[in-house]
Amino acid sequence: MPYAHIRGWGKYVPPNVLTNDDLARMVDTTDEWIRARTGIAERRIAGPGETAVTMGINAAREALHMADADPADVELVIAATATPDRIFPATACMIQDAIGAQGGAFDLSAGCSGFIYALSVASKMIEAGQIKRALVVGTEALSHIVDWKDRATCVLFGDGAGAFYLEADEEPGGFLAFELGSDGSGGHLLTGPVVGNSYEPVVAPDLSKGYISMQGRAVYRFATRVMGRAAERALRRAGLSVEDIDLFVPHQANLRIIESAARHLKLPMEKVYVNIHRYGNTSAASIPVACCEAVEEGRLKPNDTVVMVGFGAGLTWAAAVVQWPKEPGRRARSKPQSARSWLRGQRARLLSMRHRVGHQVDELLEAGLPIPPRSKSKTPSG
Ligand code: ACO
Repeated sequence: MPYAHIRGWGKYVPPNVLTNDDLARMVDTTDEWIRARTGIAERRIAGPGETAVTMGINAAREALHMADADPADVELVIAATATPDRIFPATACMIQDAIGAQGGAFDLSAGCSGFIYALSVASKMIEAGQIKRALVVGTEALSHIVDWKDRATCVLFGDGAGAFYLEADEEPGGFLAFELGSDGSGGHLLTGPVVGNSYEPVVAPDLSKGYISMQGRAVYRFATRVMGRAAERALRRAGLSVEDIDLFVPHQANLRIIESAARHLKLPMEKVYVNIHRYGNTSAASIPVACCEAVEEGRLKPNDTVVMVGFGAGLTWAAAVVQWPKEPGRRARSKPQSARSWLRGQRARLLSMRHRVGHQVDELLEAGLPIPPRSKSKTPSG
């Protein structure tokens, strides 16, 4: 049976920083309140023209570059997102086209648990032998759906994207176990914009139709209840225990929730990765961005046993036990590799252009070529 291994990872965060003090000028809040209640100091906000698609493309390219992988060999792109540019076409299809991948592509919606859900789908398809290479992207432009007048939610969220590139390998390792869960009866506690009519099985309290709406305390209670338990269940499935964890990478929603999960697991905070102060809650992007930074900071090392846990809208939760790769890609970063990545990028652009021109030619052929009216020729003498 093949195993699914992580071969490359990448992240993108917009350069535009929004601090707590900036927010205090927009709504009735303070830096002290936000830091004390959430652990957040600042977050990144998508600039003009930056969307879940564009951020996802940047993160995906970085992950492929690290692995020196040819995007033309990627057989599956999954984009976990709650903030797609459009309901359709899928964000994943736009990423597939931009990077020059050839296989299937679809979006997955499971709130902040989405990236782990997507990893479980992609890795199981690799383990089943259906595909050999997959790209999993978590990308969010939450600033596009935040109500900037609601101090209870606008201080929490930020934008960004992260991606993992996975490959089949006969060597045991990679994804050791998953735990996925959902409780739709709590769906109304955390909702996004309504598209068309909304299914509301129970009389829900005043759902905001255009923005993120959240009952913070209830979501807080839910999160502290499920995070530790989900991690324990996934560890049990992997035949491991809390002592085997080298690094715990939780969804970055609230520092107090992260500390409570660590307490539940009796895990010292030295084994817990936290970067919420820099980015706030970036939903499906939060775990891959955290992994990228944990590697950059030397906190996540080759062959480490990592436990990732997410929770969010749905309500959903998810945990994964992962053996971090012994080495990232086939090659270290080198000049020839950069040249290859550049050429692959150019090929993707040309391929996309060829397909687009092909669609237009097909349209013209279908419609019948327009025949220009013949102009009456005038003779110079006439
Ligand atoms: N600044 C100042 N005061 C505020 C702010 C703010 N930004 N927001 C709320 N308050 C006030 C409230 O109005 C309330 O005032 P009151 O006591 O006079 O009524 C007071 O602060 C306390 O409010 P609570 O909501 O009880 O504060 P709490 O300690 O619960 O913290 C928070 C709120 C941070 C939202 C917390 O409940 C939380 O983190 N919940 C979980 C949220 C979460 O993780 N969501 C993401 C899910 S992931 C996904 O899929 C998108």
